[in-house]
Amino acid sequence: MFVSSLFLASLSSVFVQLAVGAPTASSNGQRGICDVSGLYVHLGEYPNQLPHPQHNPKFVYLGVGTQNYTCNGSSYGSNGALAGLIDLSCTGESEYESIAIEALSRWTAESNELNGNTFAQNGGLDGINELGGYLGEHFFMGNIPRWDFSVAGGIFEGNENAFVMGAQPAAANVPAPKDTGDSNVAWLYLTRQDGELADEVYRTDTRGGVAPQSCSGSDSIQVKYVSVYWLTGSSNPPSN
Ligand SMILES: *[C@@H]1O[C@H](CO)[C@@H](O)[C@H](O)[C@H]1NC(C)=O
Ligand SMILES: *[C@@H]1O[C@H](CO)[C@@H](O)[C@H](O)[C@H]1NC(C)=O
Repeated sequence: MFVSSLFLASLSSVFVQLAVGAPTASSNGQRGICDVSGLYVHLGEYPNQLPHPQHNPKFVYLGVGTQNYTCNGSSYGSNGALAGLIDLSCTGESEYESIAIEALSRWTAESNELNGNTFAQNGGLDGINELGGYLGEHFFMGNIPRWDFSVAGGIFEGNENAFVMGAQPAAANVPAPKDTGDSNVAWLYLTRQDGELADEVYRTDTRGGVAPQSCSGSDSIQVKYVSVYWLTGSSNPPSN
């Protein structure tokens, strides 16, 4: 895998970073993480694009899980999310879209009893071209989103600073590009409220996750989605 990712990377600007800062393996035997500081965050479609990042990317990964909603009597409102996070750092950017499509297709075929974190951690996406190893989990604490690499099996397992919580509401959001259809949740830009994993969080390249237009009663639903997440900066990068 490393050889082929070097090969891909040689076609793009990440080659220099890769060659200088060789991927480092985590202590728990996961596959290596590649340097993504030379990548540029996907910002969506002009004129609605997200704010430009203030820092270089540090992590790029795929989230696979659900967006949760609760009905208020007439429409669904956001009520948390849960996802497993799989490394994309050694993957060529041109693969993100096809990976997201295949990942959502596999995830959709899976029983609704399984949560996205368990699915990701137990190899549900293994074998998809160039996809890396498990990094951690995305979930909500109260109404605050959290991306956490300190969880069991996470790449910084046990490191209490290895998370970031995003200030709510999100600093910006834009519709997913029209040519991907209308069933994909918005792209987001969030800034750090707490944690030392990153300063900014972007959600881009979304597939799935949109709630039905209307509802009645007060039911809660989970809608499966995948997306690319980018973490930039890091006030005090955790190590393992
Ligand atoms: C439900 O939420 C929608 C969208 O925020 C709002 O327009 C509507 O008034 C709400 N309905 C109730 C019954 O609160
Ligand atoms: C969201 O849904 C997941 C199932 O995918 C569930 O485990 C989790 O508790 C839910 N989170 C919230 C905040 O409702």
